[in-house]
Amino acid sequence: MPAGTTTIVITGATGDLSKRKLFPALFNLNFKGRLPEDVRFIGFSRSKYSDAAFRDYMWNGVREEGGMTIDRSQWDEFAKRLHYVIGAVDNAEQVLGLRERIEELEGGRKPANRLFHLSIAPHLYKPAVLNLGAMGLANEDTGWRRIVIEKPFGRDLPSARDLNETVGNFFKEHQVFRIDHYLGKETVQNLLVFRFANAIFEPLWNRNYVDNVQITVAEEVPVGDRGAYYDHSGVVRDMVQNHLLQLLTMVAMEPPSAADAESLRSKKVDVLKAIRPWGAGGARQHAVRGQYHGYLDEKGVAPESQTATYIALRLYIDNWRWHGVPFYLRTGKALGRKVSEVVVQFQRPPHLMFATDPSEAPAPNALALCIQPDEGAHLRFEVKVPDQGMSTRSADMAFHYGTEFEGDVLPEAYERLLQDALEGDAALFIRADQIEESWRVVEPLLDDAEGEKSPLQRYEPGSWGPDRADALLAQDGRAWLQVCGTHAMHHV
Ligand code: BG6
Repeated sequence: MPAGTTTIVITGATGDLSKRKLFPALFNLNFKGRLPEDVRFIGFSRSKYSDAAFRDYMWNGVREEGGMTIDRSQWDEFAKRLHYVIGAVDNAEQVLGLRERIEELEGGRKPANRLFHLSIAPHLYKPAVLNLGAMGLANEDTGWRRIVIEKPFGRDLPSARDLNETVGNFFKEHQVFRIDHYLGKETVQNLLVFRFANAIFEPLWNRNYVDNVQITVAEEVPVGDRGAYYDHSGVVRDMVQNHLLQLLTMVAMEPPSAADAESLRSKKVDVLKAIRPWGAGGARQHAVRGQYHGYLDEKGVAPESQTATYIALRLYIDNWRWHGVPFYLRTGKALGRKVSEVVVQFQRPPHLMFATDPSEAPAPNALALCIQPDEGAHLRFEVKVPDQGMSTRSADMAFHYGTEFEGDVLPEAYERLLQDALEGDAALFIRADQIEESWRVVEPLLDDAEGEKSPLQRYEPGSWGPDRADALLAQDGRAWLQVCGTHAMHHV
């Protein structure tokens, strides 16, 4: 009885993602012995490479673009399983050619499992799925078949629904792995561990104790050479619909009874469904859109582009746990510093017995979960200042992955995600209904949405975004907190 075999097909194999993320992750998984036995990788793309030429191309690509130091003998061990097929996903005949090559390499061994990764331009997702389906590549006849689909999954609610429908015509939901690479980050998964492997936080995690929640994903880089893509996308499609809403659901979800894909994802969908609709004028009242000075000069950007590169939002989750607690979200390009963090600010003590002067009132407790860089957590609490009567001051209790797990390197998100897809675990992937709900939430905020939008504010590169973003919180008597990476809590 021959042993089983697994084929991983990367479509768009000569692209950036493939060189910078996918093949480095596969190489590392192989090195760590985490791939199935008898696994092979097939790059599928239009460029005309032989197997040998593709191996050379990847050897250079993975080392340079993936920023990896690789031992040549380890690479050779990996590269002998690396193959290449010339073809385009929207060409049925060439997809048939891919199928024949897969079968030839499988050599009749069974079960013959196949993972297809779509790392191609989003407008090709639909033709790719149609051709894979038409060529019988979704049928689980000789082994499992799985498809991994990169973001963006759709441009809006109707296009996401349409793509879900096409995918669903050929693949069952358990075969579909929609990527949000933030879910592959260790610190994002740690949000679940922090909440559900500790007993002391959960009793406080609700409207009775939490004053507000802030989610910041700030990037220092401008759009750079991605102007043509970005100008048609904008910050809401690029970051909010996916990464920020995923962080939000993990902070706000109810505890699932198990960590399996269905339990976890159902709780996350519940959060999205409970987000209060914007209502008339809501997208103007609760959002601040910004564009950095200099964006219009970026290559590929339309001269009078109205695309937002920054957004700050206030939203509410209408359920028992969160009713009335504002969630403030902000993200943008060309900001002061790269930092992603979740800050839970607690309510002030109900009665302040120490400070008589309101300006000396103790700061409310805050918990910051630092996603990147300087991954970890901070807890702010008040302490007595020695030898100064009953004066108080904030102190910071910190945990850093870098010091706690010294020497251990946090793996790249794609390692975990590809490994999970190979193991059939979809917990860290987006289910069809989650995608649709998240598009529903952000639709009124899109740059090209109909209806009243908040006017575009200019901001200086290197700043923390438009002043109006501060005013959004000031209206509520609050301020943005910026905690992670500074080793101290302060307002910005
Ligand atoms: C991508 C966006 O999904 O996430 C990019 O398209 C953004 O614009 C990137 O820069 C940020 O990812 P990370 O892992 O660097 O925070």
